[in-house]
Amino acid sequence: MSEQYVTNYGPTDDWWRNAVVYQVYPRSFSDLNGDGVGDLAGVIDKLGYLELLGVDAIWLSPIMRSPMVDHGYDVADPRDIDPLFGDLATFDKLVAEAHDRDIRVTMDLVPNHTSDQHEWFAQALAAEPGSPERDRYFFRDGLGDDGSQPPNNWTSVFGGPAWSRVTDEDGELGQWYLHLFAPQQPDLNFENPDVLDDLRATMRFWLDRDVDGFRIDVSHGMAKPADLPDMTDAVEILRHTDDDPRFNDPGVHAIHREIRAVMDEYPGTANVGEVWVSSNDAFAEYVRRDELHLGFNFRLATVDYDADQVREAITESLTATSSVGAVPTWTLSNHDVPREVTRYAPDPAESGLNGGQALAIGALRARAMALVELALPGTVFIYNGAELGLPNADLPDDALVDPVWENSGHTDRGRDECRVPMPWEGAEPPFGFSSTPDTWLPVPADWAGLTVEAQLEDIFSTLSLYRQALELRYARPEFSGDTVEWYGAPDGCIAFRRPGGLICAMNASTEPIPLPPGQVLLVSTPLDNGLLPPNTAAWLI
Ligand code: NOJ
Repeated sequence: MSEQYVTNYGPTDDWWRNAVVYQVYPRSFSDLNGDGVGDLAGVIDKLGYLELLGVDAIWLSPIMRSPMVDHGYDVADPRDIDPLFGDLATFDKLVAEAHDRDIRVTMDLVPNHTSDQHEWFAQALAAEPGSPERDRYFFRDGLGDDGSQPPNNWTSVFGGPAWSRVTDEDGELGQWYLHLFAPQQPDLNFENPDVLDDLRATMRFWLDRDVDGFRIDVSHGMAKPADLPDMTDAVEILRHTDDDPRFNDPGVHAIHREIRAVMDEYPGTANVGEVWVSSNDAFAEYVRRDELHLGFNFRLATVDYDADQVREAITESLTATSSVGAVPTWTLSNHDVPREVTRYAPDPAESGLNGGQALAIGALRARAMALVELALPGTVFIYNGAELGLPNADLPDDALVDPVWENSGHTDRGRDECRVPMPWEGAEPPFGFSSTPDTWLPVPADWAGLTVEAQLEDIFSTLSLYRQALELRYARPEFSGDTVEWYGAPDGCIAFRRPGGLICAMNASTEPIPLPPGQVLLVSTPLDNGLLPPNTAAWLI
């Protein structure tokens, strides 16, 4: 049986419709000034590597001025570079040198909240309840006779209540303010015109410096329901559902239209939104023609290495985008979710494998899934280190710095384990990432075989696989067409075809399977007597 999904996004050559975008997590990419934290000079230094890899664009996680409570997602000045990363001159150099290499530069924009160190928040704290300064955020009186109860029952995504109470200048306890994330990240009120005006100014500030677009943080969270109704369900830390009143308020779409209007002043630029919603209809609303150019659809980043789950994730994503003629996006990981190698590793307790054996299988599966995502129509996002097959790192408790660890009362280890610095070269940590061994997160000593240097020399490495895959995807006509046609495949396997002729087959069963007819272009691990082994994918034409 075969099904067809038409994405209908038309024959246009906008770069972002069919691109490979590489996510640089700047803290962990390359540290040139030797302070143990990556920087913009380090990114410039590695542009040759990114060109060799063959990416079309980079997305820089936040680099604006920040006290770094949430590692840059708490912005104190959205129109300056944090000194930890460099300065505006270095940023301009990065953009110019990337453009010289035909690499576009997109950057994170964090409109939902500011840092508590932003000048607006200081002004709000100094001002009276009901003042215009407080109106830029969500300040409310507490409930109960003495106002000692938070205004509603919302919890923070990072754990604990979503409200904190301020102490007024006279030392008395005062109003409460809303923060969906850490207490140091107060939510902005988009009903206040200053907020949108300032966002427009920030966008134009960076677009005038030649950036090619933005990744918009918490794109599904900027609007809040007027009466801030209680949540009905308890939710887990770092999770929420579509009917959670904290997110996906219908008012958010008017904000996206305003954002789009600014982007349209700069032809050739594009936004991708972080859209954590599950329903296809809800997702599609964010990528209507006058809203986001692209939306992250996280289905593929959350499913197991399982044929039915992968196929469903692909068909659901395509159904969502095709319903509004939008471009699909694909990603296996980012700085918020466990790395795919670790996610796909069989559970040692259930499989009887030791940790190393389980990770080795996870690595094979991650290679297979890389071929699946790179075979699909639309735009693919690769998180730095995915191309090296990095697993999550095992970190000791005392190394953890994600605010989730503290705010959850040490019940959730947070996201540090997927944010460890990149291993570049050599035999000892930090493997060329920095000149100091004292890096912001420790790099595991057993990553020597995973360095860029080691993998460039090995044609069977994960890095070599990515390089070949990107080159083929870029050069071969068989990757054309906006549809995916499913082939019948043995149980536990998937196979699909692009109109241009590319066939992708993936084996998630436990037995080798025959390949579909065709000439093999690339395999994620060698064939077994002409059969596709378990934990492997192949491209054929
Ligand atoms: C989503 C970002 O990806 C995450 O890292 C951050 O903590 C939250 N938004 C809050 O900005």
